[in-house]
Amino acid sequence: MIERTLSIIKPDGVERHLIGKIISKFEENELYPVRIEMKHLTQKEAEGFYDVHVGKPFFNELVSFMSSSPVVLMVLEGEDAVAKNRKIMGATNPANAEEGTLRRMYAKSIDKNTVHGSDSLENAKKEIAYFFG
Ligand code: RTP
Ligand code: MG
Repeated sequence: MIERTLSIIKPDGVERHLIGKIISKFEENELYPVRIEMKHLTQKEAEGFYDVHVGKPFFNELVSFMSSSPVVLMVLEGEDAVAKNRKIMGATNPANAEEGTLRRMYAKSIDKNTVHGSDSLENAKKEIAYFFG
């Protein structure tokens, strides 16, 4: 099924000038951006986006990192976009990410893990609406 999912190039990816490489990887895998916006998230926007993680030990650090410098917000479209994007991203902790995945190639730590991707079709719809209406 053709789906849409939300992808974010996190501050560490933007700072290290990886935008082009990351988008190329999606396009090579037939996931095509249909919306793109570069944005410096406020702390409130980052908190609202990650509200499922409120109260977890990593929440404050996550919000502070995500609002530390600009990110690239993207809606990706393609066959099985949600699962395909998660596969291309690799595991949350880059130490566990498979060879060839974005996090294995580029992420430096579980905190600075370069990309975000929606984890279900339901959350993809919510996250796309959160940033793009
Ligand atoms: P994301 O939402 O950013 O795509 O990452 P994810 O689904 O792979 O992982 P998730 O469980 O949603 O966690 C969101 C972000 O919080 C940080 N985290 N740190 N120290 C820890 O145990 C821990 N667990 C999660 C990561 O930066 C993760 O991307
Ligand atoms: Mg997540």
